[in-house]
Amino acid sequence: MNATHSDALVFFGATGDLAYKKIFPALQAMLKRGNLDLPVIGVAKSGWDLDQFEARAKDSLEKHGGLDSAAFEKLSGLLRYVDGDYNDPATFKAIRQTLGAARQPAFYLAIPPALFGIVVEQLGKSGCVTEGARVIVEKPFGTDLVSAQRLNGILLGSFDEKRIFRIDHYLGKKPVHNMLFFRFANALLEPFWNRHNVESVQITMAEDFGVQDRAAFYDQTGTVRDVMQNHLFQVLANLTMEPPVRTDSESIRDEKVKVLKAILPLEAKDLVRGQFRGYRSEPGVAAESRTETFAAFRLEINSWRWRGVPIYLRAGKCLPVTCTEIIVRLRQPPTMYEGFDLKENHCRLRISPNVAFAIGMNSIAVDDETVNEPVEIAWGHCPSAEEMDAYERVLGDAMAGDATLFAREDYVEEAWRIVDPVLRAGTPVFQYEPHSWGPTEVEKVTPLGGWHNPVLNGHVMKDKQCAPC
Ligand code: BG6
Repeated sequence: MNATHSDALVFFGATGDLAYKKIFPALQAMLKRGNLDLPVIGVAKSGWDLDQFEARAKDSLEKHGGLDSAAFEKLSGLLRYVDGDYNDPATFKAIRQTLGAARQPAFYLAIPPALFGIVVEQLGKSGCVTEGARVIVEKPFGTDLVSAQRLNGILLGSFDEKRIFRIDHYLGKKPVHNMLFFRFANALLEPFWNRHNVESVQITMAEDFGVQDRAAFYDQTGTVRDVMQNHLFQVLANLTMEPPVRTDSESIRDEKVKVLKAILPLEAKDLVRGQFRGYRSEPGVAAESRTETFAAFRLEINSWRWRGVPIYLRAGKCLPVTCTEIIVRLRQPPTMYEGFDLKENHCRLRISPNVAFAIGMNSIAVDDETVNEPVEIAWGHCPSAEEMDAYERVLGDAMAGDATLFAREDYVEEAWRIVDPVLRAGTPVFQYEPHSWGPTEVEKVTPLGGWHNPVLNGHVMKDKQCAPC
């Protein structure tokens, strides 16, 4: 650990769902890699003691990713637990005491944003916020521009921007941050990565499951706020940003913000919202809910490189597959092959569940010289269980003080600026059948040549290299 690495991790919401599903597995994985050697202090108001907290950690690991006895033993040695109300100064006095000699704690707020204010205020008053302290916060970061600005104000009241780490776990996914490497470590893409050659871009984040046990949260949130304003915008920024002038976090984040600054606020005509049939009967969902479980919209990046290229984003629950995939379609060449059904060339980048990169081209069919056969030159990889998971990566980076994979204040506010008007507009919500590709009204925002619907084949998720899917 270097001198600026955090020397304690305090996580609020320690008995909650996120800790159970993501944080304990990430901590165990860090330990297995030898990347965790600091006190981990869980804080919650559950009336628990340390034994119960440890039992919860063990249970979480058994259910999510598997318990490694040796690593768990080490983790148990690092765990501390403070039980108490976030409004009660005694809770924060106990945290201060538990921190002992730690000088650079990282405070991870895995709690609803409504509680950020009180927790940050109490941390400040209790003397927990030392000069080297960091704060890590979860998405959703606000529900609109005004609330995000308010939250930023609260955090900035106690922490400098460089000490605030806003998690968007999509940025911790290797294929997402690798998009920059892929674009800028290769000469291949750059010559055609612009308005002269690209006809359209589409990004689909499809999930074949519903709202699971998160209906109450989801019904207040909807698809645009849940995954489009954050995860899909991050993917879009990596796909379209200019090469950064340096590789430090701020140079990279500067370029990402510029992408969003070049996008005009969405208009109602550019958005179609849907809701899967049966959603309103899910426990926790309002009987008359108008929350979208599907959304598709079109936007444009008003920049030298991208102006005029329509960009389509689509995400939804209860779709036919679980897959996040990008298709960049290229313009057709002036053809001399009349009579052939030529397809446009494309680049396909798959982010999950497996990773793939493919270039689609036209070729004369093997068995018929009068017919075109679209082919793909493809590379693919199925992530193994040993690969670093998104939460392990982002938590590790936050504690190490590397801000590259986190959303900066200006970025978050720009993202809200773009979606705010349509979120307020109360556009219609069209019903769609579960496991279909959304409502038929999505036609209104359909790319030339149609939406590309990702198809998974049998190779997916095997714990080894596999053929591209
Ligand atoms: C979360 C959303 O941020 O991302 C969920 O709240 C979504 O609704 C999830 O299912 C998808 O992330 P992943 O890593 O499971 O693909």
